[in-house]
Amino acid sequence: MKPKVITVEDIPIVIRPMGTGYLMADREPNGVEVAVGCRVHAKSEQWPNPMYVTYYRKLTDAYRACAILAWQEQSVVGFLPFVPTECGINLPGCLHYIDEDDMAEVETFSPIPKDHMKRRVLRTHCLSVKQALRRKGLGSQMIRYLVAWARVNEWQRIEGWAFEKSDFGWLPDIAFWEKCGFKRGKVRSWDEHIIDPGFEYHMDLQFAQQPDRTRLR
Ligand SMILES: CC(C)(COP(=O)(O)OP(=O)(O)OC[C@H]1O[C@@H](n2cnc3c(N)ncnc32)[C@H](O)[C@@H]1OP(=O)(O)O)[C@@H](O)C(=O)NCCC(=O)NCCS
Repeated sequence: MKPKVITVEDIPIVIRPMGTGYLMADREPNGVEVAVGCRVHAKSEQWPNPMYVTYYRKLTDAYRACAILAWQEQSVVGFLPFVPTECGINLPGCLHYIDEDDMAEVETFSPIPKDHMKRRVLRTHCLSVKQALRRKGLGSQMIRYLVAWARVNEWQRIEGWAFEKSDFGWLPDIAFWEKCGFKRGKVRSWDEHIIDPGFEYHMDLQFAQQPDRTRLR
């Protein structure tokens, strides 16, 4: 799918799928700067993260992309990762995470072909926009791009989860996703042992079955 160029306060920003030229979690090529969530907060020893580099390379080869990036010249200013729920492995979304057992699993993992999946569903997580560019429409434009990309690539549904109320400036809460055309799913507790049920919601967008719900602002 073609990249989309938008203008945010006179700054041209290119939204496009992450290719293998730069994989989030890898060492940045000369001149590239990454100005979003995990990278900004990562301590140097957590980056590059070889587990996620291998994982993203395998997903990208198998499914064409596993994230949408927003670029302002050589800077990554938006990151929207996603993964097929039936790809054959279930890693935490957080790029800070690394575990020896998971590392071994990632090395041997072969992504399940899309044609072999019962449900062609993508799960998204960890959307992040550069601080200085927040609340200017970039995050929702990236979601709009992902929905279009998913349709073109014959995925049936996008899912994720969000907090009912999150600290504005941290993860987007459920209201943000609803503004972007997602609908609330079932309430799910973050950890049934420690947090009240009702703290967290699934969200999902069933664009194949419910095309009328997919209209974004
Ligand atoms: C949440 C986030 C992605 C939103 O992106 P954005 O570009 O600022 O969002 P938009 O400008 O497209 O906002 C769309 C709508 O959602 C609302 N919105 C924005 N951020 C929101 C939030 N955190 N919670 C709820 N609603 C939010 C906006 O008010 C806007 O509504 P409006 O048009 O009625 O004003 C961005 O604030 C961000 O990156 N936050 C940090 C997330 C993070 O730390 N991620 C790392 C995870 S490891």
